[in-house]
Amino acid sequence: MRKLNQIVLAGLAALTMASCAGQDTEANYQVVPLPQEVSLNTDEAPFRLTGSTRIVYPEGNDLLKRDAEFLAQYIGQATGFALQTQPLAQGKEPAKHSIVLELSDDIDNPEGYELEVDADQVTIEGQTANGVFYGIQTLRKAIPAQTTASGILLPAGTIKDEPRFSYRGLHLDVSRHFFPISFVKEYIDLLALHNMNTFHWHLTDDQGWRIEIKRYPRLTEVGSTRQRTVIGKNSGEYDNTPYGGFYTQDEAREIVEYARERYIDVIPEVDLPGHMLAALAAYPELGCTGGPYEVCPEWGIFDDVLCMGNDKTFEFLEGVMEEIVDIFPSHYIHIGGDECPRTRWEACPKCQARIRQLGLKADKEHSAEDRLQSYCMARIERFLNERGRQIIGWDEILDGDVAPNATVMSWRGMEGGIKAAKLGHDVIMVPTSYAYLDYYQSKDTENEPFGIGGYVPVEKVYSLEPVPAELTPEEAKHILGAQANLWTEYILTPEHAEYMILPRIAALSEVQWTQPDKKNYADFIQRLTRLAKLYDRMGLNYAKHVFQPAQEPQAEAN
Ligand code: ACM
Ligand code: ZN
Repeated sequence: MRKLNQIVLAGLAALTMASCAGQDTEANYQVVPLPQEVSLNTDEAPFRLTGSTRIVYPEGNDLLKRDAEFLAQYIGQATGFALQTQPLAQGKEPAKHSIVLELSDDIDNPEGYELEVDADQVTIEGQTANGVFYGIQTLRKAIPAQTTASGILLPAGTIKDEPRFSYRGLHLDVSRHFFPISFVKEYIDLLALHNMNTFHWHLTDDQGWRIEIKRYPRLTEVGSTRQRTVIGKNSGEYDNTPYGGFYTQDEAREIVEYARERYIDVIPEVDLPGHMLAALAAYPELGCTGGPYEVCPEWGIFDDVLCMGNDKTFEFLEGVMEEIVDIFPSHYIHIGGDECPRTRWEACPKCQARIRQLGLKADKEHSAEDRLQSYCMARIERFLNERGRQIIGWDEILDGDVAPNATVMSWRGMEGGIKAAKLGHDVIMVPTSYAYLDYYQSKDTENEPFGIGGYVPVEKVYSLEPVPAELTPEEAKHILGAQANLWTEYILTPEHAEYMILPRIAALSEVQWTQPDKKNYADFIQRLTRLAKLYDRMGLNYAKHVFQPAQEPQAEAN
């Protein structure tokens, strides 16, 4: 189906392009996300990008060399030009009519760039190769998505740009449904296209453990496959078909490298101490009751969680984390902490003995069991801090004594984030009502692919303001950025995943990148319409509600 779409689209594109083949076409810097500053110089002639334009980078700079290759590839995909990339020796002047990539100390933000165009030359400067990469993304989105024109006129002018937030994330749940490496790479390419720099990979949950851990082979031998899956929304009926999949450590490393080349960090999540049924099915001795447990065939929150009174649990978690930090070089490791019922701990002699041993006490707000979870999070945090890593946890980690150095991912609204920032913790905003992309994007749910519920249209995502007004400027500095999440209970295929994220991540990218006083929804939709042509060319399955004319209001009865 996807292939067929691509063929049809390619045919349509060829027809529309036939009429302008050979003529020049124009670039447009009004891209998504909108750059902070675009100044056109209308007195100056444009730069004419053709098949003989060279892309030049400083000799010996491997990162800018790779950036140059990315740019050549992007331009090639749009135009069919096979641009040459060339090193430039220090002190040498680039030939006229080249696109020059270079570093400049004058740019403050390590992800910022300056794109300068005149009739003779295009220059993309960054303090780092990472910044230059974002200049390349802007240039790539400024040229037509597909053209047979013999020249592309880049209007003369200057773009000065840098991101508003340093953390610009997108999450993917591969536990509820598994997505192959090829799709994970496509997903990372989409992050790069939208100027995002963090891929949050939700690798473990009740319904499947998806990352090879050599010390605990049963995690994938047993924990990666559920024997059956509930049909629909916990209907009580099952498909009786085994479902599984996992990534080897080599495959995960391949993803880390693929992402790194695109200036994207991969943050792995091992969700603990709840959402652990897949691990318990593999190692039942880690649960309070000893099992037996089943890799979970349903969706929801489950009482069986890791036993906090068992020393083997911590030996297990540390053994897992030892390998996780070895695979993933990211500054942050996400350790979950969400939706962990206290039911088993309340009844478990070992957990209760741990509570007594640690002297954990309930107060008006928190039970002793809440503090037992805090103990767990702080213990794993210490283990990871000792290895030079920082933890992220879902906002439930505020229910008790928040681990001293934790960054909080605020999902149950903005309140967790506000509380955390006031306590001096860093925060990433991912509130459900703006940033949960498993929610519907249309009210006409009958005619939508199956979703979990809710209503988060593009405009709602666009309206997210990650910095709550009640924070002081000092507290506001703790808001590192925003992210959207794609939970996949009801998302089985890459095509469906594409549909849920596109074009909502375009709206998210502007929340993450563009300063709020520059944002304008109507203008964004204009710019998105051009970006969608790139989605078309790439054969992506994206939701089209925002491109359809608004429904006429119903005529009044009188
Ligand atoms: C979550 O959505 N359970 C973090
Ligand atoms: Zn227990």
